[in-house]
Amino acid sequence: MDIIRIQGGRRLAGEIPIHGAKNSALPLLAATLLVPGVCYIHNCPHLSDVDASMKILRHLGCGVTQQEDTVTVDATVLSGCAIPDALMREMRSSIVFLGAIVARCGEAVLTYPGGCELGPRPIDLHLSALRRLGVTVEEQHGTIRCRVEKRLRGTEITLPIPSVGATENILLAACTAEGTTVLHHAAREPEIRDLCHFLNACGASIRSDGSGTLFIRGVSRLQGAAHRVMPDRIETATYLAAAAVTGSTLTLTGCSPDTTMTVFPALEQAGCVLNTPAPDCLCVQAPARLGKLGTVRTMPYPGFPTDAAAPLLAAACVGEGTSVFVENIFENRYKYVDELARMGACIQVDGRVAVVEGVPRLQGASVACTDLRGGAAMVIAALAAQGRTEITALQHLDRGYQDLVGCLSAVGAEICRMDEQEN
Ligand code: EPZ
Repeated sequence: MDIIRIQGGRRLAGEIPIHGAKNSALPLLAATLLVPGVCYIHNCPHLSDVDASMKILRHLGCGVTQQEDTVTVDATVLSGCAIPDALMREMRSSIVFLGAIVARCGEAVLTYPGGCELGPRPIDLHLSALRRLGVTVEEQHGTIRCRVEKRLRGTEITLPIPSVGATENILLAACTAEGTTVLHHAAREPEIRDLCHFLNACGASIRSDGSGTLFIRGVSRLQGAAHRVMPDRIETATYLAAAAVTGSTLTLTGCSPDTTMTVFPALEQAGCVLNTPAPDCLCVQAPARLGKLGTVRTMPYPGFPTDAAAPLLAAACVGEGTSVFVENIFENRYKYVDELARMGACIQVDGRVAVVEGVPRLQGASVACTDLRGGAAMVIAALAAQGRTEITALQHLDRGYQDLVGCLSAVGAEICRMDEQEN
């Protein structure tokens, strides 16, 4: 098993290139299933969740190759419509294959997806939307069987909450349905916009009113297209937190400042100066000692992203004063807080609220990643901690951060990854 070892207290300087967004790449790969042809997904990050998606595509009969940052998917002929339980459990996003498979094959057999480390993560909204589109859904012993006679039927759907995954599944299912689907209260995350751009490039007809309603006019067939995955706004926010916690100046290249703006106010309140020297470039200059971040409330886009809360909370641990985090999306997203406490962080959690009293210094310790963003929080805290931190359970980090160690060591962090046995 690998561990990450960090000797804290180094100031960082230089440039970090931002990779393609995991949360965009995964639904894009699922979307290629709708196309009886070849699609090219450029700027696709090298992550274990992307590997899991490629495995699912291959299992369904697609030809899949990965060359550098491009994944090519040939879904001209499919050989199956079922995803085995072991593949479903590899990640939560396996569920976005459902809409695509049922639309393309007329039936789909899946089990419940994995990735439940943030509290209960039901899929009721995905299934009820598919039912409205004319799909018969049967659930038995954890297996979900979906079937549709002929084509799916466009309809009007209102989501009670703007679920990202449900919006993606509805888009994938409705693109080739008969008639128009009007989706109200859809998620407005930039990754949804990215998916719509790709589907439209494939010949779909999706229009947004810009305020949460999507109009999807069904077309009879999609064709192959090439698409560049948008930059990862959560990876970007994580490196902003790395600069903030170490009092550093960093430049992030190949990113999308527009979609990351939602985290700027908290960092600015803490004394960071952010500017955008170019449209795809973000420069952060942090004060020698970070201030408090104020009250950070996670919300659907364009609110503060839940996925960026953990790395920023880790930075707040050494900020001067009290910062408050309110998690409004997931029920149980503070598992990593106990690990931060091992490093001397002072955090009180009460339900969805975490109150962070900044301390002058954290101490290096042995800690474990509890989930993907919780793992990022360990790295951020360790960069500022006095002494050595060793981080285990890296499989969580590998799901969402490409070459985290290489990126941070290139800007001066004392960080390495090694086999636990070499220790
Ligand atoms: C996506 O998850 C992201 N994952 C998550 O990123 C992100 O935290 C989340 O959106 C919110 O932004 C991917 O894009 C792969 P939701 P998703 O459906 O689609 C409830 C990361 O760290 N809900 O918008 O699963 C649900 O329980 C990951 O990169 C239902 O009740 O999120 C949650 O409380 C973690 N019923 C809320 O909605 C449903 O059928 C929002 O979930 C679906 C969701």
